[in-house]
Amino acid sequence: MCGIVGYVGEKQAQDVVIEGLRRLEYRGYDSAGVALVADGTLATEKRAGKLANLEKAIADHPLPPATTGIGHTRWATHGAPNDRNAHPHPGADRRVALVHNGIIENFAELRAELETGGHLLLSETDTEVAAHLLEVEVESGADLTQAMLAVVRRLEGAFTLVAVDAQDPSRVVAARRNSPLVVGIGEGENFLGSDVSAFIEHTREALELGQDQVVTITRAGVSVVGFDGTPAVGRRYHVDWDLSAAEKDGHDWFMRKEIYEQPRAVADSLLGRRTPEGHLHLDEMRLSDQELRDVDKIIIIACGTSFYAGMVAKYALEHWTRVPVEVELASEFRYRDPILDYSTLVVAISQSGETADTLQAIRHARTQRSKVLAICNTNGSTIPRESDAVIYTHAGPEIGVASTKGFLTQLVACYLLALYLAQVKGTRYGDEIDQVMAQLEEMPGHIEQVLAAGQTVYELAREHVDTRAVLFLGRHAGYPVALEGALKLKELAYIHAEGFAAGELKHGPIALVEDGLPVFCVVPPQGRDQLRDKMVSGIQEVRARGARTICLVEEGDDAITPYADVVIRLPKVPVLLQPLVAVVPLQLFACELATVMGHDVDQPRNLAKSVTVE
Ligand code: M6R
Repeated sequence: MCGIVGYVGEKQAQDVVIEGLRRLEYRGYDSAGVALVADGTLATEKRAGKLANLEKAIADHPLPPATTGIGHTRWATHGAPNDRNAHPHPGADRRVALVHNGIIENFAELRAELETGGHLLLSETDTEVAAHLLEVEVESGADLTQAMLAVVRRLEGAFTLVAVDAQDPSRVVAARRNSPLVVGIGEGENFLGSDVSAFIEHTREALELGQDQVVTITRAGVSVVGFDGTPAVGRRYHVDWDLSAAEKDGHDWFMRKEIYEQPRAVADSLLGRRTPEGHLHLDEMRLSDQELRDVDKIIIIACGTSFYAGMVAKYALEHWTRVPVEVELASEFRYRDPILDYSTLVVAISQSGETADTLQAIRHARTQRSKVLAICNTNGSTIPRESDAVIYTHAGPEIGVASTKGFLTQLVACYLLALYLAQVKGTRYGDEIDQVMAQLEEMPGHIEQVLAAGQTVYELAREHVDTRAVLFLGRHAGYPVALEGALKLKELAYIHAEGFAAGELKHGPIALVEDGLPVFCVVPPQGRDQLRDKMVSGIQEVRARGARTICLVEEGDDAITPYADVVIRLPKVPVLLQPLVAVVPLQLFACELATVMGHDVDQPRNLAKSVTVE
């Protein structure tokens, strides 16, 4: 939700800020804007729509040179995505400018108070209220840092605010509560960003901020204080990926690049997980063996694609550890008054580590004394920071809004967690764990093999350019794959797509089947003959009613051929690991279909990469 950049240094702030916004645009692309401090005045430009509109406006009417500035790319919450509601918002006298990510919940009463005091607010946003309040403070003599402290104490909700004062070009000040913000530490320059990609081409040294902190950056340094004004220190870390990871690398879309990075990402996520003696070892696992042995129930919470990773994890965890597992949508979790105690392990899966629904769910779990383990791809993000333990996936930055390598590496982390628990609890023998680890280590090669056959899937996608509905069927671990395949099509191709457990079809959804309807069928490996045979019956049922069956089948399973209009071959892998290969053709299909339909694959309409509002 919204990307934020701040800069103070020796370079042209406009260039640094616009480049940062380009890298953050995946977070929101309803509008974009910049504010620079130039010769004691604010120079601002903002435009509805994508960053390109802002760039064109600046090319038509260049901004003055400046070395201090802020910028914003918006995912709209309050007010339509138009020029007026675009950030930055100035105060009444255009002395301060402010950008914001999040929601200020008490904005209506603050707005009424300002209007009663004679302030004229020009937008429908909650943000403008904060800009006016901030300006009131600086005009009464406070410096920008003190002014920010005074304002944040009055705000309720979740927010990152970043501001500049036209009369103080030496600093950019930001505040953070329940919304992401990192500091980039340079030499003679410093940066602020919603995530490190905002400044990765300038520095790989970053500072993680805590909740309820205000940070001031100047050319000379960075200082952090709590909302109560007491000095604080952030955690400094080195970013272990570089600019090339944030580039498209010759691909038309980040999503396509990220699909093809999956063999590497899976291999990286498996790296260094075993001791020389062959034991599984998860170095960010901050829970003791005894705490894990005490676990008698696991609840997995997540949203979207991460939720489907959780659904796959349930099969693996229950099978290998015999501990009952519930999987719950994070947005629903705390409202049902879940039964939790100290022996419940809550596993929060989040690629971004910033999803507000998931964050609120883990906070609820911790108030009930449950231990929380995060599976996350983003170092320094809020969810792992607020968890008792974390397994980081090593996918590298995922920029395409549709999650791909994030999903596969989450699956790997879930398998690792399940095997680790099995090791600690003794529910699997060491040689069984070794065997699964060896199978996992073969998965990058299998994924390569699926990708190598990508052209066939692309051709299939091109044949479906006029299709308006698609169904996906799966069973067991293939069921979440079906759901994920449908989600990818919905979010990228804007097609009505539904995933079903194949056995459930006859209880209603089969009524949707009509002549020519494409139905993707994820067929379980032959090794699970009962499951597979039932799936084959399901395929026959839909085909008998006119469906065009597109079957994802392991190599060597020829019995399926008579019932398949199209066969997509999958490598022979164990049933629990099959999602790692079965989902790949579905990702390729959605990416290619959206491309030929002329959609923006990396920035689908109405979406944002990281959903930091509930
Ligand atoms: O960052 P998270 O994993 O917490 O994000 C959860 C969902 O918002 C995310 O998976 C979303 O569904 C993706 N756009 C799916 O491709």
